[in-house]
Amino acid sequence: MNYLTISKHTSHIKHRILLYYLGCVNQAKLNENWGYIETHGASGICVDKTGAFIKGSPVIVHEKFPKISMRLCELNEKRFQLLRKQFEDKSQIRVYLGDCNTLLDKLHSLDDNVWYFHFVDPDGIRTDGYDQLQYETVKQIIKWRNSDILLNFPLIPFLRWGSYLIKHPEKRGSIVLKEAFTRFYGSKDWIKYYSPMNNPKWDIENLVNNYIDSLQPYYDQPIQKYLVKTEKNLKVYYLIHGTNHSLGYLFMSKAFKKAEIWTKRLVWDLGQVSLNKFRM
Ligand SMILES: C[S@@+](CC[C@H](N)C(=O)[O-])C[C@H]1O[C@@H](n2cnc3c(N)ncnc32)[C@H](O)[C@@H]1O
Repeated sequence: MNYLTISKHTSHIKHRILLYYLGCVNQAKLNENWGYIETHGASGICVDKTGAFIKGSPVIVHEKFPKISMRLCELNEKRFQLLRKQFEDKSQIRVYLGDCNTLLDKLHSLDDNVWYFHFVDPDGIRTDGYDQLQYETVKQIIKWRNSDILLNFPLIPFLRWGSYLIKHPEKRGSIVLKEAFTRFYGSKDWIKYYSPMNNPKWDIENLVNNYIDSLQPYYDQPIQKYLVKTEKNLKVYYLIHGTNHSLGYLFMSKAFKKAEIWTKRLVWDLGQVSLNKFRM
């Protein structure tokens, strides 16, 4: 199956936050001209673990804001084909195949009159021999003043692989992967947040806080974060949001507060999809 398989619970929460925020910005007419850029577009339509088809972020955003210009990128060729097919008759949407870390200039046309919302949604550190996301890419996005970023900081790679890499630095594969962790984090400091004597061994909160602190100087508004967990309380990722708009900051803090309620009630109204609708 070429569709991205996702966990309904942890994906829906980010999709709801994304939609809520974009809805607020749109309603407040904060930016008359805005564009949506997604660095990790996946397959558009995804499947959940029960096999049901559900909408991925590019489809959800396009349905809500059909006229918005969108730039989407996907590394995996089969997912890229699926994504492209869904938008092939939409001239305002461009889909790029490849590594977002090298394609950012294409995705980002840097038009002063356009405000860009970047959704940066990796699900790991390395895939198919590529870095999923490099710190330098995030910095490049953030330096563009007319932009917001909503970034997925994945925790599972640290919890699952990070400890192994630190404990077995000499093992085959460890060296390459350790360097990738460093390129993701922007420094070797990620290692400081692992302590074998503690329980839990990873100080996840400070790992993320330090990352945020390094980006904060680029934004006027405080960078905010939201921890996403599974139904079984497993920490999966942080959503990190940066903006230069004071209203944008308020909208996202509202979205993050609402996310607490949505999570508790487990209310997901984005629904399943019929593939016919998407000509798949
Ligand atoms: C979590 S999924 C994105 C899900 C999507 N945002 C959604 O909500 O529907 C991550 C995707 O990023 C892709 N990917 C990984 N590394 C990438 C890279 N360097 N550049 C572009 N895409 C990448 C993967 O193939 C995968 O499809």
